[in-house]
Amino acid sequence: MTKLVSLAALLLVMVTITVGAEFNYIYPEDSEIDKEDDHYLYNFTLPSDLKIGVGSAAYQYEGAWNEGGKGESIWDRFTHTHPGAIADRKNGDVATDFYHKYKDDIKRIKELGLDTFRLSIAWTRIMPSGTISSLNQQGIDFYNNVINELIKYGITPMVTMYHWDLPQYLQDLGGWTNELIVDYFEDYADVLYSYYGDRVKWWITINEPTKAVEGYNGNVTGSGYAPNVSLPGVGSYLAGHTMLKAHARAYHLYNNKYREHQKGQISISLETFWYEPLDINSRSDRNAAEQILEFNLGWFADPIYSEKGDYPDIMKRKIAENSKKEGYRRSRLPEFSEEEVNYIRGTADFFGLNQYTTNLATFREEGPTPSYKRDTGVTLSAPSYWPVSETTKWEKVAPKGLRKVLNYIKDHYGDKWDVVITENGFMDDGATTDTSRVIYLATYMMEMWKAIYIDGVKVVGYVIWSLLDNLEWTSGYISRAGIFHVDFSDPDKIRTPKESAEFVKTITSTRQIPIKYARYGKELNKIEFKDPS
Ligand code: NOJ
Repeated sequence: MTKLVSLAALLLVMVTITVGAEFNYIYPEDSEIDKEDDHYLYNFTLPSDLKIGVGSAAYQYEGAWNEGGKGESIWDRFTHTHPGAIADRKNGDVATDFYHKYKDDIKRIKELGLDTFRLSIAWTRIMPSGTISSLNQQGIDFYNNVINELIKYGITPMVTMYHWDLPQYLQDLGGWTNELIVDYFEDYADVLYSYYGDRVKWWITINEPTKAVEGYNGNVTGSGYAPNVSLPGVGSYLAGHTMLKAHARAYHLYNNKYREHQKGQISISLETFWYEPLDINSRSDRNAAEQILEFNLGWFADPIYSEKGDYPDIMKRKIAENSKKEGYRRSRLPEFSEEEVNYIRGTADFFGLNQYTTNLATFREEGPTPSYKRDTGVTLSAPSYWPVSETTKWEKVAPKGLRKVLNYIKDHYGDKWDVVITENGFMDDGATTDTSRVIYLATYMMEMWKAIYIDGVKVVGYVIWSLLDNLEWTSGYISRAGIFHVDFSDPDKIRTPKESAEFVKTITSTRQIPIKYARYGKELNKIEFKDPS
């Protein structure tokens, strides 16, 4: 009996050691980043070649949902059939009316002195049904006009092909769970390169695949995105699998047919929080922070950016184990063949990152069985005393997290990747005196500066989310992200610059983050990444 007990104890120790040894990247005993944060040591002059811009997305901006031959997207269908799913029961039918007002908006971008505008193309304007048989000249003309207007002012367009608004017709065929979408996506990408590639040199295939697949989790994880199909733990992995293949197909198409004469760059925009251990002294919590990062960033980053390709090992193992426990014959996470791994690996010219916030991680399974949430094995939280965006609740202000993600990318995926921060910004109630947004942007930019100059991360672009207040998905127009206020109750959707627009002008004209914000950076970085309880 004693023998059995000690054997069990030994096994437990071994298991603990193996698990413990698995992760040793993130939390060296003394993190240099944590020790050194005296903002007054630096001048915060931004690199002269750093591209600074603002971002947008078709469904959140354009309106004109059924004009100019546009077809119905999954977000049109979802908001029309489920008004209650949107916090203020509104939708993107009119949104900021960018469709009719783009000329004035582009003038605004010019006046701000920005280098870049990130916009997305609505697949349903180019091909109302999603297939090439429905090519729509009016849609093609619209984006031609937008791109020409940008070029006229010397603004570099950064174009996202897919920002969540799948043609409803393709959804009816199963959406991203149907691998046929890879072919349709390739046709779509082909049209975009051929019509716009002479002027568009920055392409993003898919925006935030981790969020784009949320629509296959139904309402169970709370967000209830379009298409609102409830297939948690199965559909979302399948959709993600197809997205990776579609992304790679669009990349290879560019390489084979367009790159030589168009000479552009292609990537994908991946979203991740930074994760800290709930208890910094707990080895288990450190592992939890690493594990959730692998599940979130690694899910789409490893197949594309890692040396080895494919999904992170921990993800493959955990999902296979859970699937087995649940009685499945095979893992709910689909497998890539070796050929597919090689086809997807390396399909990016830079690392596109959307980064907003930080959470604390600990091991505790939650969420329905089966689900991605449960598979991660991790529960996230953030102390109530961290400054927060009141309208989102999830967006805690933790600038140091941005620097840590940037370092993680360099150390984990190698320093050959240029990084473009394709989104960073703050959400509030829309007041034009938006000092919190200014402080957020200034302090996050300071952390980016440190990542560039102290840590040697090659950040080549920084895109603020967002130019205008816009439709924040299921939060409707309640949560505002613009550096311009939009009066949505006025038929003219009047735009008014906020304090942050002035701040952006200062940044672009001086190429320096004003030192007066250093004290906020110092204070915010003092916020301990731990729960007091
Ligand atoms: C992520 C998305 O790309 C964008 O559409 C959204 O509005 C912002 N982040 C803020 O949540």
